[in-house]
Amino acid sequence: MEEDARAVSLLKTTQLTKYFGETHAVDHVDFTVTEGEVLALIGSNGAGKTTLINLISGLIPVDSGAIVFQGADITRDSIHEKIARGIARSFQLVNLFDQLTTLDNLALAIFSRDGKTRKLFTLSDADRAVRDEAVAVLQQFGLANKAGMVAGGLSQGERKLLDVAVAYALKPKLLFLDEPTSGVSTREKAPIMDIITSVVRAGKITAVIVEHDMDVVFKYCPRIVAMHQGTILADGTPEEIRNNAQVTANLLGAQAQS
Ligand SMILES: Nc1ncnc2c1ncn2[C@@H]1O[C@H](COP(=O)(O)OP(=O)(O)OP(=O)(O)O)[C@@H](O)[C@H]1O
Ligand SMILES: [Mg+2]
Repeated sequence: MEEDARAVSLLKTTQLTKYFGETHAVDHVDFTVTEGEVLALIGSNGAGKTTLINLISGLIPVDSGAIVFQGADITRDSIHEKIARGIARSFQLVNLFDQLTTLDNLALAIFSRDGKTRKLFTLSDADRAVRDEAVAVLQQFGLANKAGMVAGGLSQGERKLLDVAVAYALKPKLLFLDEPTSGVSTREKAPIMDIITSVVRAGKITAVIVEHDMDVVFKYCPRIVAMHQGTILADGTPEEIRNNAQVTANLLGAQAQS
């Protein structure tokens, strides 16, 4: 892809590597994210997408290679240090407190961001700011009318949105969304992606979205990075990815069959 002279590199991995025994989950990956972009990370099952996110977000330690974020080497930072720097992520399988209300799931994220966890169960007037912010985020995600419902009672699509909202409430600079539409009907995918991409763009957040549905990827993401067997197979515009023979052979063909 053409380099934009104004483009500012936000994240850069160099030869990032993670093996699980014989499995080369992430294999010497050079991956860059430019400030302000919404990019898709694609690849068939087991390609290494989640592992790459787990490494960058600090969930698992790297074997070798480096991760640089805003010019700082964060390779060995803990997950908390990475969140503090502005890296957040949602999960392929949602990570919610099912017994808590939708509002409290968000309030918890805001409290933890602000280091106020000890006050969690006394959401008093003093904590109105947190409550107001949680309500505002719910409104942005179209979940305001579900504020009082326990998360376990939400539909799958609402749960996926709430999980993204929780990560968004951490006010990240860089947000990784691991399959934000997995498990929802094809019909529900577009409304969810509409909400996510508009909130992210309005907040000037850089986002990396893992998605299997190529119609969704081509529609919402101007840049696409394709992984295959732990390596990056291709990196380009929807047009370039569509016309990439290796991607077609390894990925799009496989998807058409499944
Ligand atoms: N904790 C682990 N222990 C052993 N192997 C693992 C572990 N995590 C991932 N793997 C393996 O690493 C490879 C990459 O897995 P990963 O979950 O990153 O793929 P993915 O691209 O996210 O796939 P999917 O689209 O199915 O979510 C797979 O072969 C997987 O089985
Ligand atoms: Mg995955």
